[in-house]
Amino acid sequence: MRSNTFTLIPVAVVTVLLGIGLLAGQPPAVAEEATASAQNDPMKFANGAKTWADTCARCHNMRDPKSLRDDQWRAAIAHMRVRAGLTGEEAENVLVFLQQSN
Ligand code: HEC
Repeated sequence: MRSNTFTLIPVAVVTVLLGIGLLAGQPPAVAEEATASAQNDPMKFANGAKTWADTCARCHNMRDPKSLRDDQWRAAIAHMRVRAGLTGEEAENVLVFLQQSN
């Protein structure tokens, strides 16, 4: 019986982690994919510029959009989205703004 318990624990842990991963994984997936149509949406650019100005200098100096490449901004926004408490859409808008401005 003891051995059954020990084999069930890792299964339960993996199941819980997968569940958290699926729930938590969805909004960042949206933010990481600034699609071609999103890149060409002037409203996303404008809203992204506003969100960037409003939130991204709260904790540190404003980072110049030119300081990072597109792929680096994608990674940085994936991190900063959580810190800044942005929705998936807000994060995507900021990413569009930054990638168009670098
Ligand atoms: C709640 C505070 C907070 C907010 C809001 C915030 N940041 Fe940050 N940022 C940090 C901290 C702390 C670090 C350094 C540690 C780290 O990298 O996680 C950091 C690091 C960075 C870096 C360095 C590279 C990297 O990925 O670590 C960049 C670029 C950046 N932030 C951009 C932004 C942008 C763009 C926004 C707006 C969407 C933003 N930050 C909003 C706290 C914040």
